[in-house]
Amino acid sequence: MALRQIGEDDLELMLRWRNHPSVRSSMFSQSIIELEQHRLWFERESKKSDSVWLLFIDESNTPRGVVYFTEMNRVSRNAFWGFYAAPDAPTGTGTKMGREALAHFFNDLGFHKLNAEVLESNERSYYFHLKLGFHVEGVFRDQHRGENGYESVIRFALIEQG
Ligand SMILES: CC(C)(COP(=O)(O)OP(=O)(O)OC[C@H]1O[C@@H](n2cnc3c(N)ncnc32)[C@H](O)[C@@H]1OP(=O)(O)O)[C@@H](O)C(=O)NCCC(=O)NCCS
Repeated sequence: MALRQIGEDDLELMLRWRNHPSVRSSMFSQSIIELEQHRLWFERESKKSDSVWLLFIDESNTPRGVVYFTEMNRVSRNAFWGFYAAPDAPTGTGTKMGREALAHFFNDLGFHKLNAEVLESNERSYYFHLKLGFHVEGVFRDQHRGENGYESVIRFALIEQG
């Protein structure tokens, strides 16, 4: 199992997953993304020093998901994360990818606190965060307006183990 930096060669695979209805419907931005738009976004994103985009490769050497850290604050040592498993990934992929990403974030990158924002309709992600040890820090009511109208955003966080 490994996490490696996403490169240009990964963009088409990544976009296929990102545009899949099961992933798209869980994200804050739910419209279909065109390849050219995706490439331009990646060009800008890869120049940023406060975000990291990683591809998760499982034990059979198959790419199975994307996990990313954004708004990385190196003074307060906190950041936000996001992720998606390949829509056809076997059950358990999210847990493996999540644990690998958390070990990388706290142990290798040396951060202290990881934040997440989850749409209230995203039950899988809600329980996923609880399973990984995150705590709810707040609920932002009607914070997001998507295809199904307003919904609340749940803010989770995990603090490094002392
Ligand atoms: C969230 C996601 C990564 C989980 O991946 P996964 O491979 O299904 O995860 P796992 O099989 O390892 O399951 C991990 C936990 O997630 C939760 N979970 C997974 N599927 C669930 C479902 N259908 N309903 C409720 N909880 C679910 C459970 O807590 C589960 O633990 P358990 O099996 O011990 O009960 C995946 O569903 C995904 O990519 N979703 C779309 C993108 C997304 O929501 N990203 C996060 C935005 S905040």
